[in-house]
Amino acid sequence: MLSNRETAPGHFHMVLGLPVPIADPVPGQFVMVRMPDRLDPLLARPLGIYGFSRQAGEARLELLYRVAGKGTALLSGLSTGRVLQVLGPLGRGFRIVPELRTVILVAGGIGIAPLTFLAEHYRGLPAVVEGREIVCYVGARCSEALVGLERMEALCSRVVVTTDDGTCGACGIVTEPLGLDLPSFRPGATVIYACGPGAMLRCLADMLRESPVPCQVSVEERMACGLGACLGCAVAIRSGENALSYVRVCKEGPVFDIHELDWK
Ligand SMILES: Cc1cc2nc3c(=O)[nH]c(=O)nc-3n(C[C@H](O)[C@H](O)[C@H](O)COP(=O)(O)OP(=O)(O)OC[C@H]3O[C@@H](n4cnc5c(N)ncnc54)[C@H](O)[C@@H]3O)c2cc1C
Ligand code: FES
Repeated sequence: MLSNRETAPGHFHMVLGLPVPIADPVPGQFVMVRMPDRLDPLLARPLGIYGFSRQAGEARLELLYRVAGKGTALLSGLSTGRVLQVLGPLGRGFRIVPELRTVILVAGGIGIAPLTFLAEHYRGLPAVVEGREIVCYVGARCSEALVGLERMEALCSRVVVTTDDGTCGACGIVTEPLGLDLPSFRPGATVIYACGPGAMLRCLADMLRESPVPCQVSVEERMACGLGACLGCAVAIRSGENALSYVRVCKEGPVFDIHELDWK
């Protein structure tokens, strides 16, 4: 580990140097992280990819995480030089649509992590369309839980901030300003990407039910293997008029079309 810095209360930015060859990750993919010298917790924890680069032959992986329980609390206490086990990149990431002019990102809390990597990826794409704009709607509980804002602001044409308690940006939930702007997005020229708490994604699914604008969401589920073997991360998707089937978030996801998932 190269660094592990607290950037806001309970939120950490970790940079890892990877000594073994690793494929370039697609934004939206994740890694399973584990402390090799500990049996408790035994299972690795899934974390989205916040950044990835190659410097002097060494791959650098960035993670942005919130302390949620035992595993992430232990990670937060680690200092430079510690060795971690990292498995990845895993899952299916966001589908990139270079020819679209407007890219909308909707981030709830720590959901900003994979969307930042996605914004960076879009910024690096050759200019297939002129004047591509990336607009990000960021929501958090309060100003202290707004992480990664500066980096996102540097990548986007516009960032709209909301907090539940009004301590930064507009007071309210992040889907409110998005809902107001939605009619102004040209359907054939816009794509929405979202990552955040289930309640935010459910609200977004409701709001976009009749909208022609496509939306991809990255969902979070508890994971054990991260490889598609244990079926512990299954979620329901619609597979017909009234029929449901199950897919594994770690293998078929974590990114899905918002209308494919069963939000009930
Ligand atoms: C594909 C994917 C990408 C993720 N990316 C990030 C990220 O970039 N940054 C980040 O901070 N977190 C991310 N998470 C969530 C992160 O994996 C969990 O917060 C973490 O596993 C909790 O482990 P813990 O041992 O600290 O907490 P635990 O003690 O295991 O659990 C504490 C609380 O967190 C909830 N929880 C546990 N696992 C998950 C999970 N997989 N998803 C949602 N809630 C969970 C539990 O229900 C419980 O309420 C991601 C999850 C997935 C599936
Ligand atoms: S975590 Fe084991 S199948 Fe997805």
